[in-house]
Amino acid sequence: MSEKTYVMLKPDAVANRHVGEIIARFERVGLTIERLELASVTPEQAAANYAEHQGKPFYDGLISYITSGPVVKMVLSGEDAVAITRKLMGATNPREASPGTIRGDFGLVMDANVIHGSDSPASAARETGIFFSE
Ligand code: RTP
Ligand code: MG
Repeated sequence: MSEKTYVMLKPDAVANRHVGEIIARFERVGLTIERLELASVTPEQAAANYAEHQGKPFYDGLISYITSGPVVKMVLSGEDAVAITRKLMGATNPREASPGTIRGDFGLVMDANVIHGSDSPASAARETGIFFSE
């Protein structure tokens, strides 16, 4: 069934000029770009998006990283878009992500892991509301 997912190319992906190559991978498998915007994440958006991690040891670093520079925000649609996107992204820790995945190919450390993708259609709706407020 066709569904939507929220994807965000994190500040390291933009700073290292990997945006084009990463977006090409999503288009290549047949996902459709519904929305696309370069912007900075506000502290309010960061806190809302990562509310589940508040209080964890890596939380402060996560918030300062995601607000450290521009990101590319996207809504992608297609058959099983959530799961397909997570598969292309690879494991959360680039150290464990397989070669051929986005984190495996463009990332080195957990603290700057290149990309975010929603983990369910419900998360996608919630996150799209946070990052595309209008
Ligand atoms: P994301 O939400 O960014 O797509 O990543 P994910 O689902 O694969 O991982 P999640 O558990 O939701 O964690 C969100 C982000 O927090 C950072 N993190 N650091 N140092 C650590 O132990 C740790 N654990 C998580 C990562 O940047 C991860 O993407
Ligand atoms: Mg997550």
